[in-house]
Amino acid sequence: SSTTMKLSVIGCGYLGAVHAAAMASIGHDVVGIDVDARKIESLAQGHAPFFEPGLQEILTAGIQSGRLRFTTDMAAAQGAAVHFVGVGTPQQKDGYAADLTYVNAAIDGLLPYLSPGDVVAGKSTVPVGTSAELAPRVEATGATLVWNPEFLREGWAVQDTIDPDRLVVGVTPGADGDRAADVLRAVYHPAVAKDTPFIVTDRPTAELVKVAANAFLATKISFINAMAEIAEVTGADVTQLADAIGHDARIGRRFLGAGIGFGGGCLPKDIRAFSARAEELGRGESVGFLREVDAINLRRRERAVQLVVESLDGAVYGKKVTVLGAAFKPHSDDIRDSPALDVAVRLHGLGASVTVTDPAAIENASRAHPQLTYVEDRDEALAGADAVIVVTEWDEYRKDLDPVQAASLTEGRIVIDGRNCLDAAAWRAAGWTYYGMGRP
Ligand code: UDX
Repeated sequence: SSTTMKLSVIGCGYLGAVHAAAMASIGHDVVGIDVDARKIESLAQGHAPFFEPGLQEILTAGIQSGRLRFTTDMAAAQGAAVHFVGVGTPQQKDGYAADLTYVNAAIDGLLPYLSPGDVVAGKSTVPVGTSAELAPRVEATGATLVWNPEFLREGWAVQDTIDPDRLVVGVTPGADGDRAADVLRAVYHPAVAKDTPFIVTDRPTAELVKVAANAFLATKISFINAMAEIAEVTGADVTQLADAIGHDARIGRRFLGAGIGFGGGCLPKDIRAFSARAEELGRGESVGFLREVDAINLRRRERAVQLVVESLDGAVYGKKVTVLGAAFKPHSDDIRDSPALDVAVRLHGLGASVTVTDPAAIENASRAHPQLTYVEDRDEALAGADAVIVVTEWDEYRKDLDPVQAASLTEGRIVIDGRNCLDAAAWRAAGWTYYGMGRP
């Protein structure tokens, strides 16, 4: 169609693979590039390298249409109007700061293939100030660097890419910046709804929008988990508290789910990288609260372990504990910084006989933590358990697990609801001793 543009996507991890497939699905001609030959081979054959609803379909359709291809050869980027950079920015091994090795390598690898007028659109989550450092190299080629952060949630990545809440593009004020913003508007035009906010700002603001959004979300979760800690010593119920304060539209109920806290590939590393960057900028105190947010979050994992120990009268050694969930959240096979697995590993460390089940993440989990026992079938995992702990709120546990039937499988009738996702009354009625997080 007349709106088709040639695009390259550098980095085919979570962000890049989804972005490449999504851009092809809205009609663009896309090449995805990554240094990882195995990943590229799998993508080129139409296999999604991770579990993400809808990705498999648009990947297959894109490849069949001829509008989507994958390669390890950076030269394939030549001729694209826009080059999206979506490589990882992991936490550094010896500190909290973001490791920009991959961003720098992607930019340097791309430079020989840039033409004047090309737009390089950074999508990776980076410390504020990164694009200012990259810009001289990129712009020496006549290309324009913009920052176009990505807000996708795992499990909703395709939908979030094709129909986002908002689009943010950070440009350098001036004619080149305006033109680059127009180019990106044209890229997203076939997909986004007319009323989707398209925010054009400067590059540092765009970089900061992403980091600030994740810091706010993490803070919201740790806020309610802090209230859970207070609830635990006062007999209050944090879920009712969340409902009550959540009715205030200024607060809002979403992301007030107390439990074992946040994990995943983004929130934990992003708040740490933000702290590190703020310190570099001499403004560490401005986001000092993020250290607290992190600390509260990690305490909740310990609290869940403590509840299991207490529920077994302090004698966890040799007891069979069934852990329902391994992924850091439902609808994902991602176990990066998963609170669920952390709880399982800690219980194992205390001598419990830990059996883990999960609808999607067992393969990843067993590779990372081979010392635990993994069982595919939920009911088989429950068989003979002395205690059960729910750590990922999959429908398989939250909705589909009947407490009466579960009681017929286990040895003990102890359930710890690490996500406050079970119907406590129904479980108690079925004879279970129910423990919530921040609930009496
Ligand atoms: C997050 C941001 O939501 C997304 O905008 C950004 O682009 C990447 O980081 P994601 O990591 O996919 O996305 O997961 P999200 O749904 O935000 O959940 C993060 C963690 O917070 C999960 O471990 C989840 O279980 C936990 N969480 C979420 C809570 O503990 N309580 C809540 O109320 C909500």
